[in-house]
Amino acid sequence: MEMPSIPQPTFYIFKCEQASPPGMPKPSCVNENTRDLFNHAAQSLMKAGIMGPVQIVRTSCLGRCQMGPVMLVEPGHFMYSHLSKEKIDKIVEEHILGGNPVEEYLIPSQYWGEAVKLVK
Ligand code: FES
Repeated sequence: MEMPSIPQPTFYIFKCEQASPPGMPKPSCVNENTRDLFNHAAQSLMKAGIMGPVQIVRTSCLGRCQMGPVMLVEPGHFMYSHLSKEKIDKIVEEHILGGNPVEEYLIPSQYWGEAVKLVK
């Protein structure tokens, strides 16, 4: 008997949820002003009815702390920086639902160079 296949997610969203301890000089993506962005993003996906085809995942540091809060949308390696609730809503609307990445919210290219090739 053949098992029905479970579809792959259309998108993964990796939201950095790293918080530095108080007094740490290095910035981090989660602080008292940004701690509800993950829940906001999840609610935005729920309202759109696309939880499931879109998987949102809490991650630790994604290595772009100076540009936080950040989140990575896959496929495509789209790294969004300096997030706010309004920006997240627009990313869901235009990128996730509309298929058009929101160029003005993407991390500047000098912070997001080409991936290092590991295979010779
Ligand atoms: S703390 Fe978010 S990228 Fe480092």
